Order: sequence, then C-alpha cells, then structure tokens
Amino acid sequence: MSSRSWSPSSWRDRTALQQPNWPDLGHLDAVVKRLNGLPPLVFAGEARSLTSALGEVAGGRAFLLQAGDCAESFHDQSADAIRDKLKVILQMAAVLTYSSGMPVVKVGRIAGQFAKPRSADTEQVGDLVLPSFRGHIVNDDAPDETSRRPDPDRLIAAYHQSSQTLNLLRAFTKGGFADIGRVHQWNLEFVASSAEGRRYHEIAEGIGRALQFMQACGIDLERSTELHTVDLWTSHEALLLSYEEALTRRDSLTGDWYDCSAHMLWLGERTRQLDNAHVEFLRGVQNPLGCKLGPTATPQEALDICEALNPQRIAGRLTLIARMGAGKVRAHLPPLLAAVRDSGHPVVWISDPCHGNTFTAPSGHKTRRFDDVLAEVQGFFAACRAEGVHPGGLHVELTGDDVTECLGGSDDVTDNHLANRYETVCDPRLNARQSLDLAFRASELLRSPSASH
Ligand code: PEP
Ligand code: CO
Repeated sequence: MSSRSWSPSSWRDRTALQQPNWPDLGHLDAVVKRLNGLPPLVFAGEARSLTSALGEVAGGRAFLLQAGDCAESFHDQSADAIRDKLKVILQMAAVLTYSSGMPVVKVGRIAGQFAKPRSADTEQVGDLVLPSFRGHIVNDDAPDETSRRPDPDRLIAAYHQSSQTLNLLRAFTKGGFADIGRVHQWNLEFVASSAEGRRYHEIAEGIGRALQFMQACGIDLERSTELHTVDLWTSHEALLLSYEEALTRRDSLTGDWYDCSAHMLWLGERTRQLDNAHVEFLRGVQNPLGCKLGPTATPQEALDICEALNPQRIAGRLTLIARMGAGKVRAHLPPLLAAVRDSGHPVVWISDPCHGNTFTAPSGHKTRRFDDVLAEVQGFFAACRAEGVHPGGLHVELTGDDVTECLGGSDDVTDNHLANRYETVCDPRLNARQSLDLAFRASELLRSPSASH
C-alpha cells in the first residue's frame, strides 16, 4: 500500500464513510479553498516533538493522557470552560507523575474535536425523522430540519474556534498558569472539598515540599523552564476529510506533509477500514496518529493498521487505542497485544475506557457507569501486564465542569441526577471529581503491577 503515490487529495478515490450529505458541493469547494489559504493551526516541528515524546511512551518510559470533550460545542467557548478542562488534565497528570515517577505526555481532545461519526444517517425525534447531528462543524444539534442541514460555513467557524482555543491554551500553558508552583490552584472549587480533592491536596503538598527541598539543595528552580511551562498537545478524530485536506501543508524544512489542524489525529472505530479514504489520508501525513480498536478488531487488522500507517516503524508515530468494553477487554485485548508485540511494531497502547461502556439509562440519557470505566482500565492494565506490554496511557472523555453525565463515582450520581446538569452535545463525560478519582486509581495500577488482577 505504501508504494502507491499519495497526495492530500488521494483519499478522494476511496470510499469515505461518515461524510455529511452536503446540500451544495460548490459551497463546500469554495470553503475548502478559503481554508487552504488560512494559516496552519499547528506547526510541523511541534508534531515532530510530540512524536518523539510518544516514542518515550512506546519505549515504556512515559505515560500518555489524552482527554477532553466528546465533542466541542459552538455554544460554549468560554475562557473559564477551557481553563477548567486544562486544570483537570494538569491535576490528573500531576497525580500520575507523582505516583509513577514517569513523565506524562498531555494531549487534549481539544481545539478541533468537533466532527462526530454516527451509527445512522437519520434519527427519529418525536414524529420527525431528521438528519443526525454530526457535530457543530457540520450542523446544529437542535432537533429541527433547518438546524440539522449541513452547512459548509461551519468548517470556517470550527477553524476559528480551534484557533482561539489554541491561543488561550498556549497562553495558559506557557504564561505561568501551568507553573508547578501553582499545583494547589488547579484544584477546582467544587472538587476541593471532596475526598479526591483532599487526596489531591496531599499530593500538591508533597510536590511543594519536594520543590523546597531542591531549592534548599541549591538548585535554581527559577531557571528550569520545565517547572514553569507545560506542553499540552491538541488532537481530534480526523473524520471530516475535506477539512483535514484543506489544512494539510508541506513542511518547508523536510518537504513532508503535515495535517496542521492538530498535533495528533486519530482514526475512529467506524472509519479504520484499510482500503477506505480515512486510512489513505492519514498514511500520508507525518503527524503522530491514533487508531481506535473495538471488540471486533482482529489481530490481523491491528497488524495491517500498523503496516499501513507506520511502515517505517517509527516509535511514537502510532498509538493504538483499545475501546473494548469492561466485559470484553480481558478476553479481546491480549491477542491484539501479542500479535503487535511479536511483529516488533513500536506502538503506544492506551485504553479508552469510555466508548465501549455507553448505554441509555431508563431516564433516556446516554450515560456510562464510573465503575465500568474503572473496570475497563483495570482489565487493560491486567492484559498489558500479562502480555509484557507497557500500559501506555488513557484516552478519556471529561470536562472541568460540574456535570452529571456519568453514573457513580464518589458523589454517587444516579439516573435521577442525570437530568440536573446533563450538558454534553454528544457522549457523557466524566466530571472533574470522577476524572481525578480515575487518575488516582490509574496511578495505583501504574505503581503496583499486582493491583490490576
Ligand atoms: C470518540 O472518540 O468520540 C468516538 C466516536 O470513538 P469511537 O470511534 O471509538 O467510537
Ligand atoms: Co465520544
């Protein structure tokens, strides 16, 4: 496959699943041309830095935390919401680093995570049969015919929202907010008083004492940039290929192609077919890539994905994201781990404990049980340990907002509570307390290999 020629548009000769039925293709073409003339959102050199950071994960020396919304919303782009999401990711990373002693590579599902795959083209709302909601980059979620009409101008709006989000993230991560000296201030108010919040407080105290100790030993902390800034990389599912193609640029330094809409792109469970358009597009861009693998994935499919997307076997280029379901991970994942391990392909294996555990509650809300999320993470660690593979990280849907979208956790959200603050435009997200709780459990699993059995 890799010997065939590639261009940013070569995917157009293949079957592209999950693309909207655009009512006006001329309008779409005009929008794509405009996007093509706009500046890249990220730079090739940044994508290369992320590949090398992920190479450390592939080598078992670091851990990957990939987290954020299921779908970002055009209706909520407040600085507070972006800051609070970052706070949760920084907190989770601090917990994981502190207890494992390993660097944590932080990647957001953010600044571009808009497009959603759907199981059907239409959905029934009351008596109406409407086009499915495909994310705000395509249409609006309101249940009426006009809102659901795919509108190419939304690609431009998504680009600008991504750019504004990224601008704020760069300011937060490089401008002092992510300074390790502020580790206490990442505790959100509604989290601080909970059991997880108190446990976090202890870790923050420990980090503070370690910093004081280093200072007392004569180490000049002011001059260590690593303590004052963090790298938060961006990622999203590369679903809407017209958009991704429009932001694909040739790097002037290396001559290689990069999809400059995000640092990392991933293939969803529904669009990872080898001969189809999404694999064709992604194989030609040099960004680090992810690929979801659900419970039906076979060892041969996993190997074919490795060969198609990473024929040169570059460590950090490919992350395989297992999303099996809590009841299936222990049986379905080991054969995949073994096959890839035996092939010698240097991949990062991470667990998405969310997408295999979604169901509709009696109240009608799409939800997930915190206990199932945790059980899948435990099963993932057990499977990795049994096969001698590094459990490389987590991929989670979360928010910094105090929502009630997932069941359970220490504040014991029940079906009756779901309606209180159910705000997601797509899948249910862990709230900040549940996310922090998950980080503590994962850090225990990382520290003590026997905890996963
Ligand atoms: C997602 O990550 O939001 C998603 C749709 O996942 P998957 O492709 O694994 O179903
Ligand atoms: Co989702």
